Amino acid sequence: MAREFSTVGVVGLGTMGAGIVEVFARNGIDVVAVEISEPALERGRATLAGSTDRAVAKGKLAEADRDALHERVRFEVGLDALHSVDLVIEAVPEHLDLKQRIFAELDRVCKPETILATNTSSLSVTEISVATSRPNQVIGIHFFNPAPVMKLVEVVRTVVTAPEVVADVEALCARLGKVDVTINDRAGFIANALLFGYLNHAVAMFESHYATREDIDAAMKLGCGLPMGPLALMDLIGLDTAYEILDTMYRRGGRDRRHAPVPLLKQMVTAGLLGRKSGRGFYTYERPGSPKVVPDGTTPSATDAALADGARAITKVGIVGSGTMATGIIEVFAKAGYEVVSVTRGAEKSASVCEAVKTSLNKGVVRGKLAEADRDAALGRITWTATLDHLADVDLVVEAVVEELSVKKALFASLDEICKPGVVLATTTSSLPVIDVAMATQRPADVVGLHFFNPAPVMPLVEVVRTIRTSPETTATARAVCAALGKTGVVCGDRSGFIVNALLFPYLNDAVKMLEASYSTADDIDHAMKLGCGYPMGPFELLDVVGLDVSLAIQRELYLELREPGFAPAPLLEHLVTAGYLGRKTRRGFRDHSHR
Ligand SMILES: NC(=O)c1ccc[n+]([C@@H]2O[C@H](COP(=O)([O-])OP(=O)(O)OC[C@H]3O[C@@H](n4cnc5c(N)ncnc54)[C@H](O)[C@@H]3O)[C@@H](O)[C@H]2O)c1
Repeated sequence: MAREFSTVGVVGLGTMGAGIVEVFARNGIDVVAVEISEPALERGRATLAGSTDRAVAKGKLAEADRDALHERVRFEVGLDALHSVDLVIEAVPEHLDLKQRIFAELDRVCKPETILATNTSSLSVTEISVATSRPNQVIGIHFFNPAPVMKLVEVVRTVVTAPEVVADVEALCARLGKVDVTINDRAGFIANALLFGYLNHAVAMFESHYATREDIDAAMKLGCGLPMGPLALMDLIGLDTAYEILDTMYRRGGRDRRHAPVPLLKQMVTAGLLGRKSGRGFYTYERPGSPKVVPDGTTPSATDAALADGARAITKVGIVGSGTMATGIIEVFAKAGYEVVSVTRGAEKSASVCEAVKTSLNKGVVRGKLAEADRDAALGRITWTATLDHLADVDLVVEAVVEELSVKKALFASLDEICKPGVVLATTTSSLPVIDVAMATQRPADVVGLHFFNPAPVMPLVEVVRTIRTSPETTATARAVCAALGKTGVVCGDRSGFIVNALLFPYLNDAVKMLEASYSTADDIDHAMKLGCGYPMGPFELLDVVGLDVSLAIQRELYLELREPGFAPAPLLEHLVTAGYLGRKTRRGFRDHSHR
């Protein structure tokens, strides 16, 4: 029989604590909510009231239930109020000495059988536990932000946590409607160990002006389907908390440089820019604590910025190539009303690309998403040819041929001879340096990367890659074209992986390393990222879809360019590729797909 928890204490009513109080009170458990001072208590009370009022306004909570919820919570200053609770969850700032002091005090105040839990994200639960005389009753209960919404709880046992304490806490999580993964005490547990390297890297991109905050966030939301971008997430977590977590992970987690907090973070914390809770972080919010972003000095203007920057008019577009990407891109441009010249290496190829575009457009008609007349008009706008010379009068060329530098360079040299002056020459490469392709021409200022995602007609994102030679007009034109295609164009520098792959693949590689180290299972790691961070797929699901060979190749490129030891491909990934386990396409990758 699991232990009954009728009253719990929560210490610290900040970003996490207030949400944790709500989770318990919503599930019929009485809560003693403790803060350090009256003003802090008031803030906590206001956060809880704000959250439950929003739930009522959205129709997710009945008014009577909200009132009952509030009746279950007693607000108190000081730990003495916790003398008779069955369980305490501590959610004070991420400092070991502070937490140790609080645990020593809780040990003195609480009943002998009370379980003492910490919501720490990165500190050692073991080190916190030894500040008490009951380390076997100390455990980590790591909720995710926002606690009332996110389904995951990481239950962290130390080497001395009693098994019945673990079982009781697991049963409690189930009662709260949460899914728990139980793991050992390691810096960052599962989710943060995989998340924070990525977040820190995104901050580094922003700090180095590699891309704007809006573009970094849009890239990860639209390119990977994440619920929010990394900089918006940093603001939600709180930059002070994020800084402490990174700092601890760096020191506890093997001094991986990727966890060394980016200098900008420290500066922002010192300047009081803590994210949502202080009203300003990477973004500016309506008021402290508000989730609503308001425009500030760096918000891109709503007027047509691209045109102001001298974007050129584009009506006729040449698309070179006959593969998956070229086919999708032809469809995208033709549907958006551009005149399209498709160039392949022969009539046969042209016929098959034409067939593929027709099939795809027909699907749109069958699904009721495209009128027959619009399909016919789109097809009517496409000219099919095997002669590059037919690109003499286009305004934009999009190259989507095989991913080989020598082939692309030769093609760009020819385009340089054929195309009229002022034409924008774009490559869809996903891994080669755009500058190499640009320098094959006499007009590198007109060359840009247009990195579409697969399938091009569906994916809403395009990375616009500018080299150190690309002119502002060329970039502006590329961005305006993306907008005309109904896509979001994000502008970034010419570095391996651009924005999306550079942020995504190291995280996937880290997940493989975590599995390889037997810290957790593929299922639990996938669960943690989906339920704790709202990712549409777990890392192993995604690796099997993308292909392990493709993932390994991208990770190798990133490693070679940055020489960052943390980016070295996981040996397990290399072995699976060598063994021919490439993911869904070979029916076996991290999982066996032969029966599905
Ligand atoms: N922010 C997140 O996304 C997140 C997610 C999961 C876990 N955590 C962890 O939760 C813990 C709290 O983080 P946060 O982001 O909620 O911090 P926060 O700064 O928003 O809130 C901390 C609260 O603790 C209070 N406090 C400080 N000293 C106290 C004391 N002696 N007694 C009582 N209350 C005291 C402060 O007044 C403040 O209200 C940290 O360990 C953090 O790592 C944070």
